[in-house]
Amino acid sequence: MAPGTDAGYGQWAAACPPLRRNLQLLSPDEVELAKMLLNEGQIHLFEHWPEPGVDDDNKRGFFDQVRRLNSSYPGGLVSYIQNAKKLLADSKEGKNPYDGFTPSVPSGEVLTFGNDNFVSLETAGIKEACNAAFVLVAGGLGERLGYKGIKVALPRETTTGKCFLQHYIESILAFQEASCKMVDEGCQTKIPFVIMTSDDTNALTIKLLESNSYFGMEPSQVKILKQEKVACLADNDARLALDPSDKYKIQTKPHGHGDVHSLLYSSGLLEQWKTEGRKWVLFFQDTNGLLFNAIPSALGVSATKGYNVNSLAVPRKAKEAIGGITKLTHVDGRTMVINVEYNQLDPLLRATGHPDGDSNCETGYSPYPGNINQLILELGPYIEELKKTHGAISEFVY
Ligand code: UTP
Repeated sequence: MAPGTDAGYGQWAAACPPLRRNLQLLSPDEVELAKMLLNEGQIHLFEHWPEPGVDDDNKRGFFDQVRRLNSSYPGGLVSYIQNAKKLLADSKEGKNPYDGFTPSVPSGEVLTFGNDNFVSLETAGIKEACNAAFVLVAGGLGERLGYKGIKVALPRETTTGKCFLQHYIESILAFQEASCKMVDEGCQTKIPFVIMTSDDTNALTIKLLESNSYFGMEPSQVKILKQEKVACLADNDARLALDPSDKYKIQTKPHGHGDVHSLLYSSGLLEQWKTEGRKWVLFFQDTNGLLFNAIPSALGVSATKGYNVNSLAVPRKAKEAIGGITKLTHVDGRTMVINVEYNQLDPLLRATGHPDGDSNCETGYSPYPGNINQLILELGPYIEELKKTHGAISEFVY
């Protein structure tokens, strides 16, 4: 039955008379999307729709957005909504995401600034820098900061007023120069620099780069990867939220910095870097002004210890509001070293035989160091891992 003849639409739209009356406006693929939304409990998206003839362009615009949201998420909106429903239900029930896991202190290197070990690791790290690529995740809104512009444009310090992005680029260029000198005077390597942006930060980031001649970096060295936004949820039933200022639009937000893995994978950059003989990918965040002081020694640790994954962490007082890097061992034998959020670490320790929970040890700090989301990954094993999932990262509720 052709779309537009109401008789052909059977019972599926009967629960939503406003949608049913408007079906004649929709193309066959829009009808399928509407069916999918009703099946997934999204009837509220159509309940306010007026009769055909009123706001028809807006109704079609609504489906343009639904089509985009559907195609930009692995498994489409059905998967997105079903994953969200499950995660929200588990969280409501108070289900422990770490059920079956026992926490323990991960192994790692503790570095002391300036001693011989530190200096030799720094030297090793600088030597490796020309085999690295840097990736900045800068798609976040900074809502908690209450700032309207992009965070990388904020001054990193007040004496010169240099912004974070300038500091990052100048630091990478300094590594490039020092590394090339150390390896071979003729070395011309340009360290690639990827910036992940989102709709909220993309235009302003490009403007900041262009109006400052990329702060001295060759424009071809910089690659911008823009993440797509995902639908916001209005409640625990994973009903999609409508934009308060436009009832034909679903409210959207950036999806979190985990998108960087699927974007890097699909961009082809990782394979290109591998072909160029690169070995390391360093991930960092938009406003960490001290980070680059520690990168050479951390990269030196990766290189000398042969770490596939290296997470740079900072001393952390017990119960401090920063996630702790923790080793988790499951009853079935699986192990992983991950960030456990501070509000989950203390209860997890208490529930697994540590009656004092997260407490300071003889160093005066928690043995679970603070996560700063600075990761150094070895490129080859990273690509192999991504091949399994294409970089899709599951959501979580916190
Ligand atoms: P934050 O946890 O600081 O989140 O992000 P945020 O979104 O920037 O700030 P709030 O929550 O709105 O206050 C940590 C890092 O991840 C990046 C941020 O730009 C920052 O470097 N990020 C965050 C993304 O790249 N994409 C996102 O969707 C979210």
